[in-house]
Amino acid sequence: MPIRVGVIGVGSIAEIAHLPNYRKNDQVVLAAVADFNEQRAQSVANKFGVAAAYTDVEQMLANENIDAVSICTPNTSHVPLALTAIRHGVDVLLEKPLSTDYSEAKALVAEAEKANRICMIGMPHRFRNQARALKHLVDAGELGDIYYVKAKILRRRGTPTGWFTDRSKSGGGSLMDIGVHALDLAWWITGMQKPAKISGQLVQGIGKYNTLMTGRWKSADAANQDNSVFDVEDFSTAYIRFENGMVLSLEVSWALNGPQDDAVKVDAYGTKGGISLEPLCYYGEHNQVFGEAKLDVVSNDFYEEEINHFVDCVVRRSTPLIPPSQGAAVVQMLSGIRQSSELRREVDVEEIEV
Ligand SMILES: NC(=O)c1ccc[n+]([C@@H]2O[C@H](COP(=O)([O-])OP(=O)(O)OC[C@H]3O[C@@H](n4cnc5c(N)ncnc54)[C@H](O)[C@@H]3O)[C@@H](O)[C@H]2O)c1
Repeated sequence: MPIRVGVIGVGSIAEIAHLPNYRKNDQVVLAAVADFNEQRAQSVANKFGVAAAYTDVEQMLANENIDAVSICTPNTSHVPLALTAIRHGVDVLLEKPLSTDYSEAKALVAEAEKANRICMIGMPHRFRNQARALKHLVDAGELGDIYYVKAKILRRRGTPTGWFTDRSKSGGGSLMDIGVHALDLAWWITGMQKPAKISGQLVQGIGKYNTLMTGRWKSADAANQDNSVFDVEDFSTAYIRFENGMVLSLEVSWALNGPQDDAVKVDAYGTKGGISLEPLCYYGEHNQVFGEAKLDVVSNDFYEEEINHFVDCVVRRSTPLIPPSQGAAVVQMLSGIRQSSELRREVDVEEIEV
């Protein structure tokens, strides 16, 4: 029997990644969508052949006998909507970041566990074959002890339009939006070590700009398309010390006066070897001679793999690749970076509240 899936918030990411891939999956019936914007809910439902469109999430959950939902709304609504879905006995795929508030993230972990619901955080880069190949080498011990990791995504001009720059909806700027991808990926590849101390700096450097002919992510919501509400950072950097002695440096920007580069970069250095995501490479030494192995990996549709993995977990009742506990651990680090920036000093992880 296929599972009945609902999608909550049918904006850009729902339309690009969630709805088309659910539609392709023969274990799924796309039962309903829900969006504040009635016209959009209906037009997206029509486009993807979804039978029912709602403006009220509770009503959708009460009427449609839904098994699982994707939550694709702005960040600050993620946890409240996930808790609503869980209360209705529904499994949840939650877009990143899980939350921008650590105590809220912990509440979701506890509720999902108590209710025995499958809950997965949408971190699509973990499904990239290139990232999987690097993790495979790390897990096989090819790096030895990893002591330094670099994670970055530095765009020249790539500030998203819409609610992303409005802290009341986004909970934060580039760090919460794209920094979460780089940090999660680097942390996951290098074995999800326990953080100990965090130092960070958040800056609104460029802010709103009018640079012509540049690409950027566009929210499907008409509000704030001119970024007139801009009360978040567009640049952040951090230095995280882990309990095992490893350190991670993070650099994130939506807009920075440097080369244009939209790619997530991860480099890790160990006692035996090193890896790089861009270019995809393993650095080692054999018989006292340097080696630089270009890894040959086919590219895959990682959004499709993310959706298919979530559906499989729901069907088989298995633990997803990104359980909420891992999403919450990343939120704790993101919160620590913000807290350190506000306090202008390094923070211990025990100090991190929100
Ligand atoms: N995984 C990725 O690569 C990726 C990429 C972009 C965005 N995202 C994440 O996806 C989420 C959505 O981003 P987007 O760019 O699609 O936003 P969007 O503004 O395009 O779409 C959000 C939609 O949610 C609706 N909405 C807002 N609050 C709602 C609520 N409480 N109930 C029902 N509908 C509601 C809005 O009307 C809108 O249609 C964000 O959390 C973002 O961080 C993930």
